[in-house]
Order: sequence, then C-alpha cells, then structure tokens
Amino acid sequence: MQIDQVLEALRSVIEPESGKNIVRLGWVRELTIEAGKIRFILLIPDPTLSFSSEVESACRRTLGNQFGTDVVLDISIDSDMIDLGMDLQIDGQEAKPEPGEGITNIIAVASGKGGVGKSTVASNLAVALAGAGFDVGLVDVDIYGPSIPTMFGLETAKPRVNDQRRIIPLEKYGVKLLSMGFLVDPDKAVIWRGPMVTSAVKQFLSDTEWGKLDFLIMDLPPGTGDIQLTIVQTVPLNGAVIVSTPQRVALADARKGVGMFNQVHVPVLGIVENMAYFTPPELPEKKYYLFGQGGARALASELDVPFLGEIPLTQSVRENADQGTPVVTDPTQPVAATFTEIALDLVDRVEARNALRPATQKIDILHG
Ligand SMILES: Nc1ncnc2c1ncn2[C@@H]1O[C@H](COP(=O)(O)OP(=O)(O)O)[C@@H](O)[C@H]1O
Ligand SMILES: [Mg+2]
Repeated sequence: MQIDQVLEALRSVIEPESGKNIVRLGWVRELTIEAGKIRFILLIPDPTLSFSSEVESACRRTLGNQFGTDVVLDISIDSDMIDLGMDLQIDGQEAKPEPGEGITNIIAVASGKGGVGKSTVASNLAVALAGAGFDVGLVDVDIYGPSIPTMFGLETAKPRVNDQRRIIPLEKYGVKLLSMGFLVDPDKAVIWRGPMVTSAVKQFLSDTEWGKLDFLIMDLPPGTGDIQLTIVQTVPLNGAVIVSTPQRVALADARKGVGMFNQVHVPVLGIVENMAYFTPPELPEKKYYLFGQGGARALASELDVPFLGEIPLTQSVRENADQGTPVVTDPTQPVAATFTEIALDLVDRVEARNALRPATQKIDILHG
C-alpha cells in the first residue's frame, strides 16, 4: 500500500458540482500510511455536515474496495475558509480576495538565464494541461521580454475590465492568459523597480477574474535578482519548474535558480532540459548533443531535485511559437507528446505533494 495507490483510489471520489476529484481539488491533506493504517485530513471548504460525511463515506467505500475492508482508516474533516476561497465578511463589507484565491496550484516556471526556452516551456505546459482537461491560467510576468502575447498570437489583444473593475483574462487554446505585454509597453519595462513589479503582480492575482483554476502557470523573468526574488515572495507559490539548456553557463544559472527557491521555501518540482539535442528530420534516429549531453539531469541529481525530462531542439517548436500556436496544439509533432508527458508527470508530483501538506498552515508569503 503506497501513497500513489491511495491517491489513485481517492481520485474516484468526485465533487459533484465541479465534477473534479478530491485529490485534484487539494482536499486530501497530511496523508500518511503506517502499519496498515491510512490517515488523512479532508480539507473541505465550507462543508455542511451532510456533505462532508458523504465525502468521507465515499472515501471509506473506495479505499475499502481497493485495500480490503480490514484496512484501518483515520479520516478527519477540517475546513480552512480563508485558504480555500470563502469571502470574508468584515463589518458587512466583503474583504478583498487573497492573491490566488480560487486557484489550487500556482507554479512558477523559472530559469537562471534568458533565451533557454522558459516561455516556450511555460506555454506548452499550460496548453498541454488544458488539453488534459484541467482548468489552466498562464500569467506572464516577464517584464523584460513578455513573449506570451506572441506565442499565443495575441500581440494586439487587450484584456477588458468588468463592472467590478477586475481584469478579465484573454483565453486561447483553453488557457486563460494575462501578460505584462498586454498592459505595458515593453520598451519602458527596463525602468521597472521592485515595488512597481510587486504591485503589478499582486494585481494580476487579486484583481483578475481567473475563476476556479487547477493550475496557474507563471512565466517569471529570467535570472535570480531582486525582481525575481520579490515576485516569488509576493505570490503563494506551490512549486517551481526550472528550465535549463545542457550548456555549462545555463546550468550554473539554473543552480542559482534552485538556490533562490530553496531560500524562500518554495519546493522545486524539477528541472526541464530544453534544447537537449537536435535530430535532423531526415535522420530521425540521430541525436546531436549540440550543447553537451545530460547536464541538466546530472545537475538535478546533484541538487536532489526531480528531473522532469528533455525537450529536443526542434524546428516546429520555434516555428509554432513564432506563429502563435504552441507546438502542443499540433499532435502530429512528436515533441507535443513529450510536453504532454512532462505536464502530466508534473500534475502527479504536485498532487502528491499537496496530499502531504499540512491542512492548517497556509503557504508562507514573505514580504520583502
Ligand atoms: N526546444 C526548442 N526547439 C527550438 N526552438 C526553441 C526551443 N525552445 C525554445 N526555442 C526558441 O528559442 C527562443 C527562446 O525561447 P523562449 O521560450 O522565448 O526563451 P526564454 O523565455 O527563456 O527567454 C524562441 O525563439 C523559441 O521559439
Ligand atoms: Mg521568455
């Protein structure tokens, strides 16, 4: 009996209103298995007594079916209204939502170095997750070079604001999108200072009508300087994905990226090696390791973080990005399947982490 098997069984317990399973919703917490006893907390937002006991008996039923009726279950029920998106009433007024309310997982995609394919990875992961049925948002806070508008063919689009003066994200390929590039002139971005970035990032999270999201992918500016540190301290991140090429210089910077997230206690979900090798279309069995071989995998094992996979240098990746259609939208390209595999592996890792997370403690947000 293992954590993975228990989670897999619990994925058959569905919350009827959203149609999503309780693992995906992040309701299973503090899961432990000890001496044949499965123990966890059900963190149900705003539970009525009858609803929570229904969920609990569904859990008992499915785990009993899976592991036999003599398995010992210790299930307790908790609710953390602030954590899970209830509107607080203070003196009859609705409090402002916390940044990230209604969003189950916020994942940063980061790199030490620019040009390694961070935005390419972020957009393809987002589209792959949407294709797999998740509710996904992608927010581009790369103030130096916002490329999400180009990669989604939305260079001239402008998001609207609703009656409550909340930003309505754009939507394409099933992904809700917001980019610094929609709102500011990139040529002026170089003079941005930390506090301006922080307030813009906060607005992207608090004043935006994301709706309920399973994942919000955040494309960070390259590097590990003050701006990056400020952003990762402003946002309640669940984890980070580091993108690197196999090159020595890129790896050195990827190491700094891992260090930055360790410093602020954001779990590094893993490293993706981009531009790992080149395969000429006419020689499909050949792999040319233009930037060196296996560097990111070795770095991941050295730093004891997961290695999430390799993306080859592929003409279609670049062409699709330039045309505003992330390559994942074209299933005839083998690299599309590679991105999807990495995305689904990431989901498993995030869900497994969430199931071990404390039910009461909110994710730390430091203010720098
Ligand atoms: N695996 C790949 N194969 C081919 N071209 C790629 C690949 N990954 C990224 N690119 C291209 O490299 C350039 C930089 O990628 P980008 O995602 O914008 O990097 P970053 O966001 O890290 O600055 C873009 O033109 C992109 O299309
Ligand atoms: Mg970029």
